[in-house]
Amino acid sequence: MTRPDTATAPANTQTLHGVHALRTSHAGVRRLKRQLGGHSAHGNKVWRSSLVMMDYLNDNPLPDASRVMDLGCGWGFGGIFLAKRQRAMVTAVDIDPSVEPFLQLQAASNGIDTVTALTAPGQLCFQPGRFEKLSKQQLGSQHTLIGADICFWDELAELLFKLIRRALQGGCQQVIIADPGRPPFWALADHCMAALDGRRGIEVEVLTRRIYAPLKTEKYLLRVARSAPSTGSDRPAHPG
Ligand SMILES: C[S@@+](CC[C@H](N)C(=O)[O-])C[C@H]1O[C@@H](n2cnc3c(N)ncnc32)[C@H](O)[C@@H]1O
Repeated sequence: MTRPDTATAPANTQTLHGVHALRTSHAGVRRLKRQLGGHSAHGNKVWRSSLVMMDYLNDNPLPDASRVMDLGCGWGFGGIFLAKRQRAMVTAVDIDPSVEPFLQLQAASNGIDTVTALTAPGQLCFQPGRFEKLSKQQLGSQHTLIGADICFWDELAELLFKLIRRALQGGCQQVIIADPGRPPFWALADHCMAALDGRRGIEVEVLTRRIYAPLKTEKYLLRVARSAPSTGSDRPAHPG
């Protein structure tokens, strides 16, 4: 793991590998909060798990211009990072539409345009939606699904297990969920391990990862992935 250079970070931001996350104390963020008020389901800052996950993906990059869905995107740091650094085509999904202006502000501060439909690498598109409504086709058309700090209520463990299974059935290559280690996250990890690991070319692992900058923190990454990349023609049979 590399130690990112934070020397050039603008005021009231955290910077990881050249990508900025505006803090809640940033003037633009405070202005939006005054205008728009709060969020309904904790999408009220850039959560630390997303920094740790992006540090992992910096060391383990996606193929160029991959399609990525950022589940429970909140202010969108993960998707913005992958659009900016790896030219990913990112669909950022959240149940709470009030996060969108914050995501747009964060994206603009990184020189990333938010669009209504993805047409080129390095773009980001916000889509209001809930985990349980995302279809096998929507999920399966993504190379990678990411989700940071999205498994914080008991009922989310089962919703996210079913989502991961739909995604794999649809052809998605990998799902990465980052978390501080709350009980629902471990329930999800245990369920994935028991039901998916070793079946039809799928590997499940939980990694512990620490970063030291822009702050020191340790989080867990649940990674559910096909052990060998598949194409449309050699796609493995559906799991579970
Ligand atoms: C703790 S925040 C994390 C935000 C962001 N991933 C980050 O790391 O900064 C959890 C996010 O998940 C969203 N969320 C919660 N339940 C959801 C659901 N059922 N479907 C879609 N999004 C959901 C919330 O609105 C919130 O933005």
